[in-house]
Amino acid sequence: MRRRIAQHLHSSACLPFFFAATAVAQSAPTAIHVDESAHVFRIDADDTTYEFGVNEHQRLQTLYWGERISAKDHAASAKESLGAAAFDAPLNTTPQEFVGWGGGLYVEPDLKITFPDGNRDLDLRYVSNNLRDGVLSVRMKDISLPVTVTLEYKVDEETGIVARRAIVENHTGKPFVVESASSGTWNLPRGADYVVRYLSGRWAGEWTVNEQKIQPGKTILESRRGTTGAQNNPWFSIRTQEATEDEGDVWFGGLAWSGSWQIAVELDTVQQVRVTGGFNPFDFGYQLKPGTTLETPWFYAGHTSHGLGDASRKMHRLELHSLLPHAPQPKLRPVLYNSWEATEFKVNEAGQMALTEKAASLGVERFVMDDGWFGARNNDHAGLGDWTVNPQKFPHGLKPLIDKVHSLNMDFGLWVEPEMVNPDSDLYRKHPDWVLNFEGRPRTEGRNQLVLNLAREDVRQYVFLFLDKLLTENNIAFLKWDYNRNWSEPGWPAVAPDAQKNVYVEFTSNFYGILRELRLKHPNVEIESCSGGGSRVDLGVIPLTDEVWPSDNTDAFDRLRIQHGFTQAYAPGIMMAWVTDSPTWVNQRTLSLEYRFLSSMQGSLGIGADLTKFTPDEMETARKMVAAYKAIRETMQRGDLYRLVPPTNGSEVSVTESVAPDKHQAVLFSFLHSSTELYPFPRIHLRGLDPERTYTLRSIYGKVSNDTPTSASGSYWMHKGIDVNLRGDFQAAAFVLQGESR
Ligand code: GLA
Repeated sequence: MRRRIAQHLHSSACLPFFFAATAVAQSAPTAIHVDESAHVFRIDADDTTYEFGVNEHQRLQTLYWGERISAKDHAASAKESLGAAAFDAPLNTTPQEFVGWGGGLYVEPDLKITFPDGNRDLDLRYVSNNLRDGVLSVRMKDISLPVTVTLEYKVDEETGIVARRAIVENHTGKPFVVESASSGTWNLPRGADYVVRYLSGRWAGEWTVNEQKIQPGKTILESRRGTTGAQNNPWFSIRTQEATEDEGDVWFGGLAWSGSWQIAVELDTVQQVRVTGGFNPFDFGYQLKPGTTLETPWFYAGHTSHGLGDASRKMHRLELHSLLPHAPQPKLRPVLYNSWEATEFKVNEAGQMALTEKAASLGVERFVMDDGWFGARNNDHAGLGDWTVNPQKFPHGLKPLIDKVHSLNMDFGLWVEPEMVNPDSDLYRKHPDWVLNFEGRPRTEGRNQLVLNLAREDVRQYVFLFLDKLLTENNIAFLKWDYNRNWSEPGWPAVAPDAQKNVYVEFTSNFYGILRELRLKHPNVEIESCSGGGSRVDLGVIPLTDEVWPSDNTDAFDRLRIQHGFTQAYAPGIMMAWVTDSPTWVNQRTLSLEYRFLSSMQGSLGIGADLTKFTPDEMETARKMVAAYKAIRETMQRGDLYRLVPPTNGSEVSVTESVAPDKHQAVLFSFLHSSTELYPFPRIHLRGLDPERTYTLRSIYGKVSNDTPTSASGSYWMHKGIDVNLRGDFQAAAFVLQGESR
């Protein structure tokens, strides 16, 4: 008899953080079912079903992942696949849910261990399961050794995104070395018709969207840099060949880890696509002491049959409603001013005060002082690590500036780079042993700085204590937490050689621990994750920070492409976007102030220009744009994003639309690189509106063609469309469609 242990997860009151999502109307309840007789586990949420089971050899294998299937259909028990001759035993041809390296496994393993006696064979079999508080735990154990792995699964009821991780326990009585550990493997429906989309980049050129057909073999997305990195972001999406932005099957996901990571996308010999993600196995070697556990990061993944745009919107909703601090109602991002591009390291009390008045007069709500306020920090050669206020620049401490900011009705934010040290600093002179290094080997500098080894308890304490003191002694509402280089020589000489590689896990765990502790002690402080631009943006840091800095590249035209890439995986509402001076330092490109504002208003608006040089006309334009942004900010930060025309593949045009969750407002942004041969701007068909509601069109900046009605139904704007009048070079326009109130 089939026994069904169903947990209906409609009430969020009894659920852990992941389920604190805003419930949406659903056709069928969200549930995790355990079919004990068939040994099948099934997760149904939103429009997705995920199913796996225990096969006749007690191994776990994926049964289905895709569009939701009826609860009436009971899955047959899992059965190992046939092998492919002697060269690929069934172990390799079966879509393994989580498999140890051993027994002739050639595909990417989920776990590889070296035991002290030299044994490296690991054969994990199913033992038991448990379903509690919305978390399904499935326990596996090696065939002879007391090594257990608990796989945990939970699901976001709003999006159907499943999160999973693995917890490895050592009961052998002796330490062993984990040489690779993934959170698990996502197996797609078998086939060779897939295209993988991923993000690549570098400093000032982050968030490039790449696509390639999945060919037999392996595509490795990774960071070996100690942190997330911009070279790849820990996100993937895989679509069928025919899927587009708006239609078709897409599987997508992200890894919640800010250390070295890897996602392997593998098409095996029987045309099975496997996506395995977790700690980067390169130079990995975690010594797991007896009686202790190693937790892999959470790996989130979902499915949609409504194209790449919907895949992104599901990720955005997951972040906004389940992951961010204060989810499901993350605080709206205030309009921010940051002094970096205006002053660089030349900060002082008078200069900053002059900027505060200008910023406040524009309607700015948060004033942030960037690098240069501490220690002997006059350039990037000295001072990092010495977190005391520079007495020449701020003879009376930070208080007069902070008071001034408050008197102008703004709150105050400050730049810090806690995990770094300049060799020319008091901290390094006192503690040269605190940095990552191999004894007697060179210490390679990046931006004249070294990386503090946050895995060390004394370093962890130092970093926490200086930040805690800073926040306790000063009325600070916001920290811009920077991280301006990657690792080199990642040694940890203070511990035994066979425990040194634990740095790859302990560093990141301590980074999270400090953020968590600080937030607990200073619950009103908000934090931005920055890493020389967008090098530390991932699902691991998002629950501990309120916003991120996507790139040091603030050229408003380049930003259109950057924002297009960023929003594949991350919500526009957490993307800080400054309006800076023109011509930009990046490309020496001249852009109108309106263009620059409209580019930044697609995310969380900030200003980083030198306001002391603004003309009265520019101040007036900026004031109007800040006010216009405040009227649409909720839609921009919490709404659904439609990327109507992407600024990629040489497109002259770029168009985005954001729709408020209750569809009462939509905002349209259009950009033209340069018009040619008298062609008009292409007609725009809006999406996501309420077809029967009347929407009134209002311009933020720019004009539409003369025959455009001022108000019309949602169906009119979506089907008949709208003609925007844009001609020339680097032109921009933006419009609000305000729905009639109900
Ligand atoms: C990094 C950040 C910049 C700025 C500088 C300060 O490059 O990304 O925004 O804060 O550091 O040194």
